[in-house]
Amino acid sequence: MNQAVDVVTGGAGFIGSHLVRALVEIGRKVVVIDNLSSSTTDAIKDLIDKGRVDFHKVDIRDKKALDDVFTGKETLLYHLAADPRVKESVENPVDSYDQNVTGTVNLLEIMRAKKIPCMVFASSGGTLYGDTTQFPTPETVPLKPISPYGASKAAAEMYMSAYAASYDLEIASLRFANIYGPGSNHGVMYDFYHKLKKDPSRLEILGDGKQSKSYLYVMDCVNACTLTGEWLAKQKPGTFDFFNLGTKSWETVTDLAKVMVEILGLKNVKFEYTGGNRGWTGDVAKNLLDISKVEKMGWKPKTSFKDGVKKYLDSLRC
Ligand SMILES: NC(=O)c1ccc[n+]([C@@H]2O[C@H](COP(=O)([O-])OP(=O)(O)OC[C@H]3O[C@@H](n4cnc5c(N)ncnc54)[C@H](O)[C@@H]3O)[C@@H](O)[C@H]2O)c1
Repeated sequence: MNQAVDVVTGGAGFIGSHLVRALVEIGRKVVVIDNLSSSTTDAIKDLIDKGRVDFHKVDIRDKKALDDVFTGKETLLYHLAADPRVKESVENPVDSYDQNVTGTVNLLEIMRAKKIPCMVFASSGGTLYGDTTQFPTPETVPLKPISPYGASKAAAEMYMSAYAASYDLEIASLRFANIYGPGSNHGVMYDFYHKLKKDPSRLEILGDGKQSKSYLYVMDCVNACTLTGEWLAKQKPGTFDFFNLGTKSWETVTDLAKVMVEILGLKNVKFEYTGGNRGWTGDVAKNLLDISKVEKMGWKPKTSFKDGVKKYLDSLRC
């Protein structure tokens, strides 16, 4: 029997590289597509060298290159390649559109042409719902992105719905909270760590520090991705569904800073706020997702916030 082939776009990146490793560990054959725009192959180099991962340096905006990679034997596509930077999407909205919408439609076209049945998509909870006032936020809240990045994820989901219905595909979108953990080279924790390393006496905090968000440890995110892949294989052709993915608690940015300062063993750090109720234009100041729908699939976050932050800081300190 031919071994099933999973494709991970963005598989050299932070979440993608953990997912690739998890898939290899459960015996899947994995193809990685990544243009290495924000990563290197370092995190999966051992797997590439051992022949466990077939790596292709390809940009998902390049249809011809994608066509050359896919053979039609692939069964499940984990689509994580994207420009994940919300702030930068406000400065360069067209680039975010090209990477996140055009790139996604190119992959959907490949699925249609080569009859690849299933996709799990890395979407985003907070940025899709924008400034909602309903917390925890269920999937039924109207999508109202406040950043081009959020709009690009919403648009990608709309194309997924249409392609699933029109071409009998099976697609699940996971709307991630803030994902953190070893290997992450962006986000608030990464920023705070490097600021504190440079000057442990003070910490600049964007906004008023009252922004409240939920943070999910990367391995919990990866477990949800693989579980969703298994779930999808049991669904009918034409399925499109979406699930929030996060934790049941949220932290203010100031509380997050306090936890980091405590774990790092620092004393008398002066918090300096830049002011305003959001960190930057496009920043969603409050994000707590209702995760009851994904819990019905049998998933639960396992890593506590403090344990996760400690593991991440330990990895940064190495
Ligand atoms: N990290 C988070 O908190 C978070 C939250 C919500 C959603 N997401 C989504 O999860 C996915 C992974 O995010 P991440 O944090 O691991 O980011 P990351 O930047 O570490 O990984 C993205 C990977 O995609 C690659 N890539 C970017 N543009 C590409 C293109 N045009 N063609 C091919 N490869 C390309 C990059 O080189 C990188 O390896 C993204 O889709 C992101 O939008 C992340």
